[in-house]
Parts: sequence; structure tokens; C-alpha cells
Amino acid sequence: MWSVTVYFLIGVVSVLANDVKTIVDERNRLLKRELDMMIGSDIVLSDSEQKVNEMIMKLKINEMDFGFEHPQYFNYSKHFFEYKDEVKKSKLFKLIKQMPKGAVLHAHDTAILGPDYLLNLTYWDDLYVCFEEEDVHLLFAAETPDSACKTKWQLMRDARYSSGNVEKFDRELRQYFTIVIDNPQEVYSDINIIWTKFQKIFMTAGTMLTYMPVWEQYFYDSLKALRDDNVMYFEVRSVLPELYDLDGNVYNSVETAVAYKRALDKFMNDYPDFIGAKLIYAPLRRVDAKVIKDSIRVAREIKRKLPDFLAGFDLVGQEDLGEPIKDFLPELIEASNEIDYFFHAGETNWYGTSSDENLADAIALGTRRIGHAFAIIKHPVLMEEVKKRNIALEVNVVSNVVLKLVEDVRNHPLAFFLAQNMPVVISSDDPGLWEAEPLSHDFYVTFMGVASRHADLRMLKKLALNSLYYSTVSNKDKVIHEFDIRWTKFIDTIVKDQW
Ligand SMILES: *[C@@H]1O[C@H](CO)[C@@H](O)[C@H](O)[C@H]1NC(C)=O
Ligand SMILES: *[C@@H]1O[C@H](CO)[C@@H](O)[C@H](O)[C@H]1NC(C)=O
Ligand SMILES: [Zn+2]
Repeated sequence: MWSVTVYFLIGVVSVLANDVKTIVDERNRLLKRELDMMIGSDIVLSDSEQKVNEMIMKLKINEMDFGFEHPQYFNYSKHFFEYKDEVKKSKLFKLIKQMPKGAVLHAHDTAILGPDYLLNLTYWDDLYVCFEEEDVHLLFAAETPDSACKTKWQLMRDARYSSGNVEKFDRELRQYFTIVIDNPQEVYSDINIIWTKFQKIFMTAGTMLTYMPVWEQYFYDSLKALRDDNVMYFEVRSVLPELYDLDGNVYNSVETAVAYKRALDKFMNDYPDFIGAKLIYAPLRRVDAKVIKDSIRVAREIKRKLPDFLAGFDLVGQEDLGEPIKDFLPELIEASNEIDYFFHAGETNWYGTSSDENLADAIALGTRRIGHAFAIIKHPVLMEEVKKRNIALEVNVVSNVVLKLVEDVRNHPLAFFLAQNMPVVISSDDPGLWEAEPLSHDFYVTFMGVASRHADLRMLKKLALNSLYYSTVSNKDKVIHEFDIRWTKFIDTIVKDQW
């Protein structure tokens, strides 16, 4: 009896062991197939890169596993404002900042630099200010402006120094230039509220920035900020507003583009190691077809005048409230042989609506890349087409949190894009408005909060390479070669310094 029982037990155990091995083998095979599919899986790391990889993975996994055990402390499931400054102190952030990141392919010209920079601009001579109850208006002028003001225009200098408390004056003024507040979840309670605040900053700063000398300086300093963040190339989107000067001259959109080119040339002369910049003319979408027709005419004229500088055309503004692409098909089709498109599309949570379906219009119109494409995850056929046609998705994770498309970045569709090796580039949209670095925060949050625990240096390298590959930079092979040189230098520095 005894021996029978023992025999029986051994039998069960050995069958179980076999079954377990079969299942374990299969689950490993399944997961390996996914890992082999993930973005960056085609990259083979050198010995030095492997050393750096071990370093960064130790840092990443420590923080992630601590968060897994103590979710209340996990930074990236919270609002960006709660951790954006804190993370800058982390070793991994510093490493990602130092890392060559290629290009910024999706960012808006007057939202690159932050409120401290804008505040500094208010110290320029000839700036007038009008304080109203809720608003502030800014304008450069040779003498007191006569444009609308419910109170009175005064020289900024006089207003500041007669305020009795310059520090307080500046602190309050700075608030008009940032979207960052302590309690975003309460104050920015729906997408329209945050977009209203967001657009107001553009308008308040806009009348200061469109003063020609400031305009060129701002772009020059934006390029400098990008270079400091180890970005080597920039495709800037601009509505190309009219500019003005103290002599009463007004400059049209074409002249505004020329001003950009002038600032770029100056910058390239001062920093020849920067690769360059191109322009995506991106006027507002909440207009009628006649205005679009005129915008296309402007795009053509810029292309004639600055053929190497204009990358293409796009439409901007809150997508749910703006006109859908399909309303402008005749105008857009007509120009599609001449002008490349880089449409914002699918920056929405509203499935099956016109803003969601902008994705299909963008693809059908032959867009080179798609701005955001946040909603594309819900469209299996469009996902397939984007892959087949190699249309890059310009993903801006931090922007999507701040502008209320997603609360917890672990649920961002980018996780799926990365898992399936979609053509993806990481960008920053309007980093200055939420006081982020020009690109580092978006790379960092992608790596720490969105991507798989297993995603490593290969993914970071691939994302940087993608940004160049999907750009319209001239001499692309040469630029990618230059990137490789900088990347190797970065890796060697990290290994040598024993980070
Ligand atoms: C959040 O980020 C900061 C800065 O990197 C870090 O010190 C802190 O430990 C992070 N929190 C957790 C729970 O990892
Ligand atoms: C603002 O100006 C001060 C004084 O010139 C300078 O130290 C500071 O770096 C400037 N800040 C920005 C963000 O440009
Ligand atoms: Zn955008």
C-alpha cells in the first residue's frame, strides 16, 4: 500500500514537470516573438553600448520595480507638473539629456522657450503693456499705442518700476506665459478649458514675439536651446503671422518665413555643428476654404523663394473644434504634387468623429508624417497602411497628458506603437508652455513610463535614428553618419566617466 502511494505521487509529479516545461517553453517563445518585434530590436549593441545599457537598465528597473511595489510613488502615472522638475535631478534624465537625440520633427515655433525666457523679453526697450482685469496685452511701439485697451497703455519699464515690488510684478507677469499650475486636475477640468488657456498664452506672447527683432532672436535662441538639449536638426511648424517693427512696417507671411531663414543662417554661422532647420507652414484650421486657398498660395510662394527651407504644409488648432481636412480637399489635392503634407490628425479621444477620421484623409492625401496620430490605435486598417506606406507618427507624450488626452502615460497608445515597431518619432509639441526641456522630457517619459520594462538602449537609439530617417533633411546619409559619430562619442564618454 505504501509503495503504491509513493509510486502514484512520483507519477503525478513527473507528468506535472513535463507539462510545466511545455507551458514555460511556450510562454517564453511567445514573449520572445514580441521582444523580437519591438522597436529597436534590430539594433545590435557594441561592447561599449552594452556597458551603458547595463547601467541605464539598472537605473530604470530599480525605479520601475519600486513603483510596481509602491504605485503611490510612481512618477509617470501622475500629472507631468508633479514630477517634471524632480526628475531632472535623476542620473538617467541627465544621461538622456546628454544623449544625441537626432531631430525634433513636431514642435511649434512660439512654444519652444519657457516663461522665464518670455519674461526676459519684457525687459526689452520700447515694450508697452496694458493690464486688464484678466488679461495683459503687450506691444512694441515707438510711442504709446492706440490699439484697444480697456485701461491704459504704459511703458513696461514704467509699469514695472512704479509697481513698488519688481519681484512680485515679474512673478505675476510670468503667470501669463505658462500653463503650469499647482492643481491642474481641478482647474483644467476638461479639454476646452485647457485649450483656451493654452491658446491665450500664444496670443499674449504673440504680440510681443511678432516684433521683427524679437522674432528672429526667439528663433535663434530656440535653436540654441535645441542644440543644448543635444538635438541636431529641427523641422519647425509656424502659422507665419504678420510681423511688425517700430517704423510701422508690416511683414507678410512670406517675409516672416524669410526672417526665419535669416535667423537660421546667422545661427548656422555661429554654430556650424548644428545640421539645420526647415519650415512646415501650418496655418490655423478653423477657417473657410477661401482662406486655405490663400494659405496654399503662400506656401507655393515660400517654396519658390526658399525651396530648400520649406519642408511642407499642415493645419493647426484644437482638432475637435477646427474644420476637418475633408472640408478642404479640392484645395489640398490641387497642391499635392507640389507641396508635401505633414498633417496633424487624430489628436482626439472622440472615436468615429471628424477629427478622428482626419487620419484617413491625411493618409489618402499622401501625408509624409502624421502629427500625433493619437487615435490611430482604434483603426486597424489605417495602422496597417501607415506601416505599409512608411508614414511616421509624430508622438508627443507630454503634450497629450497636459492637453488632456491621457492621464496615465502607461495607457498611452505609444506603448502599442513601440511594441509593434510602428514608424514612430518622439517629439515635444510645445515644451516651453509646460516648462519642459526641448526634447529630453519626452524621451525620458517614453522610456520610463510608456515603454516596456524590457525596452532598453536599443529603443532609445532607434527613436533617435527614426527622427532623422523620417525627416526631410538634405544629405540624409551624411547626417546619419554624423549622428553615428556623435553617438559613439557619447557612449565612450559615459563608459569612461563610469556614470
Ligand atoms: C520620482 O523621480 C525622482 C527623480 O528622479 C526620484 O528621486 C524618485 O525616487 C522617483 N520616485 C520613485 C517612486 O521612483
Ligand atoms: C534671463 O536673463 C538673465 C539675466 O540676463 C539670465 O541670467 C537668464 O539666464 C535669462 N533666462 C532665460 C531663461 O533666458
Ligand atoms: Zn502640434
